[in-house]
Amino acid sequence: MKKKIIILTGAGISAESGLQTFRDADGLWEGYNVEDVATPEAWARNPVLVQNFYNERRKAVLEAKPNAAHLALAELEKHFGTLIITQNIDDLHEKAGSKVVMHLHGEIVYSRSSKNAALLYKLQKPTIEMGELCELGSQLRPHVVWFGEAVPMISKAMHEMPQADIVILVGSSLAVYPASGLLELAKPGTPVYIIDPKIPNVNLPKNIVKIEEKASVGVPVLVSELIKNE
Ligand code: APR
Repeated sequence: MKKKIIILTGAGISAESGLQTFRDADGLWEGYNVEDVATPEAWARNPVLVQNFYNERRKAVLEAKPNAAHLALAELEKHFGTLIITQNIDDLHEKAGSKVVMHLHGEIVYSRSSKNAALLYKLQKPTIEMGELCELGSQLRPHVVWFGEAVPMISKAMHEMPQADIVILVGSSLAVYPASGLLELAKPGTPVYIIDPKIPNVNLPKNIVKIEEKASVGVPVLVSELIKNE
């Protein structure tokens, strides 16, 4: 039976692919107020500003290439039962070849009905414009979980965590709940690794192995170790 490895990823794994993180010095939340671009209230108040914010990010995502960290995780999937639970809305895990990916906060390459969240449409172009409607006639919005909205996949993610034989955390400040609570759901004694050049100052499992490296360096090294000791 293949060991099950759950990899939790955040914006840091995509930083070296040129996509901004949120809370680093040059992060997205330095340039924008969350309240203006990433809440249902912002959408109600000024949907054009919200569309433009995500249209800009989507253009960057469409041009971005997976880096060595994404590619190493795709390789890991060939050797173990892996599940990537990502907070990222980019598609770099999929571009790298990972097949089993759960997007807790949505996917920017999809638009979604603003009336029925189950109606998703894979975008064939970089932008969503006002006036573009879903099949029910409501305005299309980014398929992204905004602050204050439910995280539909979180219960499935919580169900998966205790089944992990190994947990790896890459590039998340663990600043946002409920994703940040997943780490605590690993069975006691489960080996946990964190890869981040600046290990977040939050309470981490006491047995955690800290790899203070950028993702493109730390992830391939850990992956090759795990495959060697398979
Ligand atoms: N390699 C690995 N980690 C990195 C790198 C890198 N090259 N560069 C930065 N990091 C780390 C930072 O040290 C930090 O711990 O990535 C983390 C980025 O943290 P955030 O910017 O807070 O991103 P994230 O944790 O994914 O944010 C969670 O917050 O704004 C919401 O919905 C948004 O999904 C996002 C959520």
